Amino acid sequence: MSSSPSSTFSAESYFSTQLPPSNLEHDIAGVREFVGRQKDAGRKVVFVTSGGTTVPLELNVVRFLDNFSAGTRGATSAEYFLKAGYAVIFMHRQFSLQPFSRHYSHSINPFLDFLEIESSSASSELPSSGSTPNGVTSSPQICVTPNKRDHLLEVLTVYKNVHAAGTLHTLTFVTVNDYLWLLRAVSQELSLLRRKAMYYLAAAVSDFFLPRQKMSEHKIQSGKGSLHIEMDQVPKILKPMVEDWTGKDGFIVSFKLETDQTLLIPKAQASLNRYGHQVVIGNDLNRRKFEVVFISWKEFTSQSSREDDASSSSPFRESWLRIDPHDRAKEIEEDIVEELVKRHGRWVHSGER
Ligand code: PMT
Repeated sequence: MSSSPSSTFSAESYFSTQLPPSNLEHDIAGVREFVGRQKDAGRKVVFVTSGGTTVPLELNVVRFLDNFSAGTRGATSAEYFLKAGYAVIFMHRQFSLQPFSRHYSHSINPFLDFLEIESSSASSELPSSGSTPNGVTSSPQICVTPNKRDHLLEVLTVYKNVHAAGTLHTLTFVTVNDYLWLLRAVSQELSLLRRKAMYYLAAAVSDFFLPRQKMSEHKIQSGKGSLHIEMDQVPKILKPMVEDWTGKDGFIVSFKLETDQTLLIPKAQASLNRYGHQVVIGNDLNRRKFEVVFISWKEFTSQSSREDDASSSSPFRESWLRIDPHDRAKEIEEDIVEELVKRHGRWVHSGER
């Protein structure tokens, strides 16, 4: 596979040459209704993107490239935003982690381990059909494993409350194409809320893709030796997102993932400088669960932090958030969200840029 892209799409040329996902209109109608309801209720709304995008190599897709992300950051953050009183549009990669159900993922906390068959029902005297010797039908009783009950009850209560309040709206994507079309359309719908909208871009988005015009229709056949595919660059969508789709009013938070710690700050600063949005959160792949760095503009920060940074000529403010890596009960997203809620509050009220 070539490492140099053959061409660069602008956002405009991308959307005029690549087809929208078939369910886009339906998805957007749902978002429109949700945003209208939250606007009437006076709620702030955060649009969370989560999980990795795929890049299919064939139109009838058998093979694809994937981007790393389990969806933990997005799903966990969504829960804390809901707790803070936000309505959440949660756009995630199909089958990646979701708010609430993430606590029972099949790999770390298998759902079936939370359930037990009551001992009387499990009695070996009962025929497997469930009928007792006198012919009365009994169904086996299922109960929650006692030591898991409290945690389950806590999660279930919040989950049911959120559903009753109608403050969580979920959308799914698989490919980078689905993601880009949805990102644009949801951002445009949400721009109705102006400063009350936050955009929290935790998804891991492919940098390269195969335009459909270059894709093989059927499964790529083996037998011809090595495979060479030249990919095009995915358009940098943060620019149009900041300047056009969100009407320059949204509070936009992007993430920067690096594996080389020394690149984290310069790359995050470069991203903020290039796109002119509000916050870049830098995270190192191996330290992301207990350490992140917020990069923002000095002019956005409070008076006290402005004074702290007065000596430096850099336009950026850098602040680290750390938690104890050994404290398994603590999630760094709690602190990330708390900090962003404060900053967004100032953004909404001050009208500063
Ligand atoms: O889900 P987890 O396993 O918990 O992992 C979370 C995470 C490490 C994936 C997450 O915290 C993270 O860092 N996400 C961003 C990953 C990344 O490398 O981003 P990027 O450099 O490709 O893009 C920068 C930002 O622009 C991201 O916010 C991305 O969502 C957004 N972007 C990028 C390109 C593009 N075409 N569209 C975008 O929206």
